[in-house]
Amino acid sequence: MQTRGKFATSFGVLTATLGSAVGLGNIWKFPYITGKFGGAAFIIVYLICVALASLPVMISEIVVGRRTNSNAVGAFKKLKPYSAWPLIGYAGIASSFLIMFFYTGVAGWVYSYIFRALGGTFVNATSDVTGTIFKGLITDSLSPIIWQVVVLLVVSVIIIAGVEKGIERITKALMPLLFILLILCDIRALTLPGASMGVKFLFNPDFTVIKGDVLLIALGLAFFKLSVGMGTMITYGSYFGKQENIPATAVKVALSDIVVSMMAGLAIFPAVFAFGFKPDAGPGLLFITIPMVFSKMPMGNVLLAVFFLLTAIAATTAMISLLEVPVAYLVDEKGWPRWKATVLSTGIIALIGSTASLSADPAGVLGATKIFGKTFFDLYDYISSNILMPLGGIFIVIFVGWFFGKRNLQMELSNRGRLKNGVFLNVFLIITRFVSPVLIALVFLNAIGILKI
Ligand code: PHE
Repeated sequence: MQTRGKFATSFGVLTATLGSAVGLGNIWKFPYITGKFGGAAFIIVYLICVALASLPVMISEIVVGRRTNSNAVGAFKKLKPYSAWPLIGYAGIASSFLIMFFYTGVAGWVYSYIFRALGGTFVNATSDVTGTIFKGLITDSLSPIIWQVVVLLVVSVIIIAGVEKGIERITKALMPLLFILLILCDIRALTLPGASMGVKFLFNPDFTVIKGDVLLIALGLAFFKLSVGMGTMITYGSYFGKQENIPATAVKVALSDIVVSMMAGLAIFPAVFAFGFKPDAGPGLLFITIPMVFSKMPMGNVLLAVFFLLTAIAATTAMISLLEVPVAYLVDEKGWPRWKATVLSTGIIALIGSTASLSADPAGVLGATKIFGKTFFDLYDYISSNILMPLGGIFIVIFVGWFFGKRNLQMELSNRGRLKNGVFLNVFLIITRFVSPVLIALVFLNAIGILKI
């Protein structure tokens, strides 16, 4: 049997894990939500949610993965054979497919916008023009699917290259580049006259908007942002070397991820306000507002291409981690070669994923098709983010808090006693046993409409 892959360096561990966390969420969700729900006040609430819920899940997943050297399903099979625990892993595989179904579609639009920007499509465009261009793309029945396939090919090549030669090597190169490109966009946006309005929008603390529902939004975001609750971190954790400091890595990833979100916000909102537009979220912000605003600056086309390139990088490194979940399962449990596992998984994603991109617009090919009142796009997002990920998260912290064994946990958190973090162990146990499960349960019950906060 071939030996399993490993990340060779600590820097690679950091870039791969951060690459998973940093994604479309940093660009079209986090900055807008922060601006809308109290700026700095929201950031504080978000940090609390990270500390008490998503970070503990992340650490728990990495611990389980590294301990067992296994994929999301195999890890639980090794620790608790003949139990229901491996269901967490199967649910994780389902989540990663569901997220990939829509994420690859959006990533395809992003890839295509790099070329459109370079080609000068948006020069002096008004919002009508950028709106029409976006509609034209998503109501087309062919071009979004071709771009989705291009995205899948890029991700597949990286995955087939392997853990060290593919994932690690690519994220080591791309994550620093992502930071450089972001800094470029930040400098341009912040030096525009009138930029301070955007900075105010992003940071001005407003504690009056912090109510129950904002807490829930923060918690949900903290989950999706850090890629937890669906086995990605179990899978990546299985590639962590024995000398890696798990809690320290997780904290670094969580903090750097926030920094990326803030930097994205500082590239977007100062420009939006400087040109007198209103902030927005989701596809509207990314594909309609941003092209229009950037086109108003000198050299705007180049800057716009840079912006979409960095968004493509963020999305790609996140998708690598999503695809690795089923691939690692097929390789470990079924003994398949990586290429075969990758081809099968991407084949499924290409086939079903097209329903997401074709349903993204009401006027699109599948836009009118509704299942439980939702388009395919929204359905995949809803089932993964609102149901499977919180459930996965609760069971993972409960597993590590109650069933994994305190000694085992101590061995993994302290690298067999080499790291002195005894107090942390006890705090971590209290959080995983009580605090995180209760917090996540509240969000989950609210998300599915059983509890109204
Ligand atoms: N964290 C990624 C983002 O913010 C999304 C993601 C979720 C990636 C789950 C992997 C697993 O865009």
